[in-house]
Amino acid sequence: MKRPHIYHTFKNQKWRIPIFIISIFSLLLIFSLALLRLKSPTTTSYPSHHYTSKLSTESWLPEIPRFAYLISGTKGEGPQLKRLLQAVYHPRNYYLIHFDLDASDEERLDFAKYAKSEPAVRQFRNVMVVGKADLITSKGPTAFASTLHAVAILLKQAKDWDWFINLNAWDYPLISQDDLLHIFSYLPRDLNFLEHTSDIGWKEHQRARPIVIDPGLYHVKKSGVFWAKEKRSMPASFKLFTGSEWMVLTKSFVDFCIWGWDNLPRTLLMYYTNFLSSSEGYFHTVVCNHKNYQNTTVNHDMRYMKWDNPPNQQPVNLTQKHFSDMVQSGAPFARRFSMNDPVLDQIDRELLRRTDGHFAPGGWCLGNSVVEKDPCVHFGNPDAIKPSVNTKRLEKLVLQLLDPENFRSKQCR
Ligand SMILES: *[C@@H]1O[C@H](CO)[C@@H](O)[C@H](O)[C@H]1NC(C)=O
Ligand SMILES: *[C@@H]1O[C@H](CO)[C@@H](O)[C@H](O)[C@H]1NC(C)=O
Repeated sequence: MKRPHIYHTFKNQKWRIPIFIISIFSLLLIFSLALLRLKSPTTTSYPSHHYTSKLSTESWLPEIPRFAYLISGTKGEGPQLKRLLQAVYHPRNYYLIHFDLDASDEERLDFAKYAKSEPAVRQFRNVMVVGKADLITSKGPTAFASTLHAVAILLKQAKDWDWFINLNAWDYPLISQDDLLHIFSYLPRDLNFLEHTSDIGWKEHQRARPIVIDPGLYHVKKSGVFWAKEKRSMPASFKLFTGSEWMVLTKSFVDFCIWGWDNLPRTLLMYYTNFLSSSEGYFHTVVCNHKNYQNTTVNHDMRYMKWDNPPNQQPVNLTQKHFSDMVQSGAPFARRFSMNDPVLDQIDRELLRRTDGHFAPGGWCLGNSVVEKDPCVHFGNPDAIKPSVNTKRLEKLVLQLLDPENFRSKQCR
């Protein structure tokens, strides 16, 4: 039995019910055309910016980027992944959904069916579900191998994106995609956001010296990593870095890691195969040991996380009592959230203006949110970005991070 490599939700697929789809489409088209004409630019409550796309003549405005998201999860996490996709969806971006091997094919298919049921996804063809899942051992190298797999698919299936962002079922955004695209449109396209340090402290004995083996590499059932008796010495030909496994990486950098025309990414891939929690070190060590990339790092993971003191294995579960702290941080994402925690509803209401079961609205949604539950069933130009006042907080964070006093002195130290 051969499973399809990827369930495309739109691209290259054979429609079972083409007539139904086509009729919905023509209706939508008529609706959108009608709405386009009716839409008055003075009714928006936010300052509306006009951006340039490649073809535009107003070249003085920054080009809007595109993000390529990996949203990963496991058995039973379908509802969280669906809600997360709804919260971060924008027609300009790409989304790769990966349910690991613990999840069933049914969960994968359900998600693909859900995605297909969204008119915007059918139109913009930007959501993909990985059909041939990876087995992931937590703390094992199979975890970051799966991230590399996702990057490779995104590079192959979608060429025109700028940054890669990894999320999982425990993440949630704190600002809209319009706001994120707006701020990132002003940033140089070579900045890699990843929290990192070479001061590995206790990790030298707990992580760098032990040698682990991940049975996930050659078994079909999940189990833990096991330890070899021998310890190894610290590496001499490169310097170890460690940090958060949540990142915003440039396409150029992940391309470099995948293609490996310089041998460093491949050498480190093999080195990290026997390293505990290698997701917290692979990209950090590659970026900081290569002269072309070490000057591109911004020492922040763009996430809000709160740790106990002393820290546990996982950051604390965020609740409503963390809301204002989270918002003030300016970070575009936060983790970790338990499924259906009330704080997620507060974020939807106050930060994303998202209603239950629908996409977070943006400038691309043409429906009227007063009379309709879901303004995004009628959509227009994906380049119509409508930033809100919330951009100020992210702008402040980015300016702090890029402050000359701060920026260079925190790179790869
Ligand atoms: C990176 O930055 C350092 C310090 O600012 C500088 O000396 C070095 O030449 C830069 N490297 C590259 C490749 O630009
Ligand atoms: C966080 O939430 C998860 C799932 O909801 C739960 O299993 C875990 O015990 C919680 N952690 C703490 C520290 O309360």
